[in-house]
Amino acid sequence: MLRPPCRCLPRPPRRAACTGPGRRLLLSTPIFYVNGPPHIGHLYSALLADALHRHRGLRGAGPSRLSTGTDEHGLKIQQAAAAAGTSPLELCERVSGLFRQALAQAGVSFTDFTRTSQPRHQRAVQRFWGALRDGGALYKGSYEGWYCTPEECFLPESQLAESRDAQGRPCKVSLESGHQVHWTKEENYMFRLSAFRDPLWKWLRENPHAISPDPFYQRVLRWLEEDLPDLSVSRESSRLQWGIPVPGDPTQTIYVWVDALVNYLSVVGYPTAHGEWWPAAHHIVGKDILKFHAVYWPALLMAVGLQPPEQILVHSHWTVRGQKMSKSLGNVVDPFSCMEQYTVDGFRYFLLRQGVPERDCDYYHEKVLKVVNSELADALGGLLNRSTALSINPSNTYPCFSESCFPKVSDSREATGTGRVSAEDYALLTSVASLPLQVAGYFESFQIYKALECITLCVRQTNSFFQRHRPWKLDRKDPAEQLWLDTIIHVTLECLRIFGTLLQPVIPHTADKLLSRLAVEPQERALSSLTFLPRYSGKPCPFEGRQLGPDTGVLFHRLEKSREHQRETERP
Ligand code: MSP
Repeated sequence: MLRPPCRCLPRPPRRAACTGPGRRLLLSTPIFYVNGPPHIGHLYSALLADALHRHRGLRGAGPSRLSTGTDEHGLKIQQAAAAAGTSPLELCERVSGLFRQALAQAGVSFTDFTRTSQPRHQRAVQRFWGALRDGGALYKGSYEGWYCTPEECFLPESQLAESRDAQGRPCKVSLESGHQVHWTKEENYMFRLSAFRDPLWKWLRENPHAISPDPFYQRVLRWLEEDLPDLSVSRESSRLQWGIPVPGDPTQTIYVWVDALVNYLSVVGYPTAHGEWWPAAHHIVGKDILKFHAVYWPALLMAVGLQPPEQILVHSHWTVRGQKMSKSLGNVVDPFSCMEQYTVDGFRYFLLRQGVPERDCDYYHEKVLKVVNSELADALGGLLNRSTALSINPSNTYPCFSESCFPKVSDSREATGTGRVSAEDYALLTSVASLPLQVAGYFESFQIYKALECITLCVRQTNSFFQRHRPWKLDRKDPAEQLWLDTIIHVTLECLRIFGTLLQPVIPHTADKLLSRLAVEPQERALSSLTFLPRYSGKPCPFEGRQLGPDTGVLFHRLEKSREHQRETERP
């Protein structure tokens, strides 16, 4: 292929405009293809972003936005519409609406929903294209190669395998997705990706946390060691009509990935107002679209004189009973029915508790029941229920803590137990007191599942504390016993207050119910002012003596085995 000389590449990126404390942050989910309805993998991408967004809000960390939306152009959508006997626009309207509804129903706190068919976005893409062209990053060339429409990209031979099509004829398929590829030869605009190998390398070396978790960072470094050919960034309009035309050349349509990636800029007002937000962006993406985000997107940005996003947070995939989710296997899991079956919070909890970004995770019905029932219904709900029971706390108030019952020790590791308080009780205080920082650290390092694991361990520890001291056995007529009883309940409610506060980003409805029952006012639910058991350190506790909230109902109802699965297990 003929490559005209590069005019002025690469340009040094502009300095970050938004650093420092209280700074702005744009969190993003990928924008979703509308060739099919949402599934639980899509929801997982969005829930990770949502939990980070909510946690940031609770920390009072500065203004943030959570952007999401739908990716509506390209051959894939054009073909899906044709197959469904509808127009691309009608298909986009309908499916984009479904995504919006699924995200809203799941409580995803998005502030922006971009549709790539919106004029605002299209204008931004055309301006971005103009900046690429003016910077000398584009040239016209004849391109040929294997195109994979479901992945919307050309694939090199090394990523292909031999297979057979539906009629049994030999064909080539993508190694990654298994989808058939087709030989395509076209006149295209090419982007000088090859010129960006060194700048990309430098960026990654200087920013070792730019891509997280680390195995994905290492993967991108390896890609940069391999061949990095220039990228075809347009398709002939005769083949692809459903897209944004190349400015000044209506025979070409802008490549759908360039169009889609620019959503991260168009949402913050590119080309005029993005400076307030860019490059303080954290993109949450699945592993299948890592190259687009960690190689192509930063290179495109550098080519127009912008900095790469601050972070790319990568997650792996959900399988279903050990199998890849796919339309052909008929095992695609619908998030609407999951939310109905497991409740919104139950399903949010399951995905975020069991989803480990580094590796693929498996979904199946019995596992959801086990995790959610044992951790939310039994451990957390049971603890609230037992510690607020009118039989042990008839006044239904937040009881007082007695220093004499739970004397302060200077080092909990040396506490062998004074009076009724045991070493394990001091260990509980240490664990819960350090929990907010630990959880914040895990959110920061994109390990939300570990944050939930720590909370669960503390819930168990608190249950043991409660169980160990058998408050229901204490004689309330004896003033000394009453003081001890109140202290046990006070400590337990304080632990629950910490758990409820920390769980807000993951199970917002349940956390709200829990905190309301504990009479914690909305303005007392932030992480910045979260102090555990102040009375133990001789400070006043604003909750002591407060009337507890009126909703004495079950915090989280145990989930029942679905009828369908009931039948499955009853079959001989
Ligand atoms: N439209 C592109 C993204 C463009 S962003 C500029 C796209 N869309 S997608 O609908 O196919 O995927 C959206 C997200 O869902 C990706 O992060 C992808 O990794 C994620 N998932 C798709 N299948 C998944 C699972 N089985 N499990 C977890 N996430 C999965 O790619």
